[in-house]
Amino acid sequence: KTYGVIMAGGGGTRFWPLSTKAEPKQFLNLSGKDILVNETIDRQHDLMDQKDIFIVTNETQAKMMKERTAGRIAADHILAEPAARNTAACIGYAAMEILHKYGDGVMCIFAADAYIRDEAEYTRVMKEAVRAVEETDALVTIGIHPTFPSTGYGYIRSVEEAGEVWRKVEEFVEKPDLETAKSYLASGSYAWNSGMFVWKASTILHYFEELLPDVYACLKQIGAALGTEKEQEVLHEVYPTIPKISVDYGIMERAKGVLMLEGDFGWNDVGSWDTLDAVRTRDAAGNISSGDTLLLDAKNCVVYGGKKLIAAVGVENLVIVEGRDSILVCPVDQAQRVKEVVETLEKEG
Ligand code: GDD
Ligand code: MG
Repeated sequence: KTYGVIMAGGGGTRFWPLSTKAEPKQFLNLSGKDILVNETIDRQHDLMDQKDIFIVTNETQAKMMKERTAGRIAADHILAEPAARNTAACIGYAAMEILHKYGDGVMCIFAADAYIRDEAEYTRVMKEAVRAVEETDALVTIGIHPTFPSTGYGYIRSVEEAGEVWRKVEEFVEKPDLETAKSYLASGSYAWNSGMFVWKASTILHYFEELLPDVYACLKQIGAALGTEKEQEVLHEVYPTIPKISVDYGIMERAKGVLMLEGDFGWNDVGSWDTLDAVRTRDAAGNISSGDTLLLDAKNCVVYGGKKLIAAVGVENLVIVEGRDSILVCPVDQAQRVKEVVETLEKEG
């Protein structure tokens, strides 16, 4: 049987000041249609029953998550992490929960921060991925044809396997530097890692045991407590001590026998203010705007109004965003640096 796991615990600091601790990215309605997390849930309708989807989020967001996904996701399928320990912990916790509740199962793991244009093709590829897992017991990831030398993604080099729809992964490199990313792009033999994974719960736990034994030791303690009266106590004691590492660095870069399926379905990681093209259409001058805005001779800007009218005159390549308590102005090509603002603010308290 197939289960969905939506990872929705990241800070989404790159969408400050619209996303904040109180209103994190997964609750943003960037497209103007629905909030990110609900779009992610609804995209799975041909792949699995909605009742088989889990959301892993942190304790502070769990209540809001239950409210905002009510009618879609049952409250006991929203797993609340006592602390954010990155994606390895998040996936391990979900795997333990699936083992505990259902014995085992295929987990399809999604980030809460991607848009997909062609849902039919997405469904087809994901079904192939599930089939690959059922046949081979491998770790499967979905690779995306890269279009620019992003330093924010993982890169996958793979080779064809005769007669199969999947490719064998030869190398997985998480977030290379710009020079390396450029050479990967030029070589034509790398795909981006989409951050969507398919594998059995029992399989990934074996990889944890082998490659991340410290994480695994914590997961085992948590797994043993699930469903007992000690569950919350153990979770609160052990979870905050899980080593902080992403599944990409911890498992994908080091695991042998990973398979990749190519996903040509208009994937877009809506990761920061400069990557909104997947969800918004630009005007004739290349601007993306939302809310109450007045643009006069503005070019290639991203302008998100809040309560006030934002007027931008004669400017180019700027991000201008009004949040509830703050305003952001920065060049589009430095949109990644917004997370520095959040870090600085946090340091200063
Ligand atoms: N529950 C939970 N707990 N979720 C988390 C945590 C955590 O501690 N940390 C991150 N997440 C969630 C985020 O909310 C997001 O939905 C997803 O996990 C991926 O985390 P990101 O922080 O967005 O990762 P990334 O974008 O830097 O890199 C990953 O995604 C890229 C594609 O978008 C990697 O998998 C890359 O290899 C990949 O290319
Ligand atoms: Mg991301």
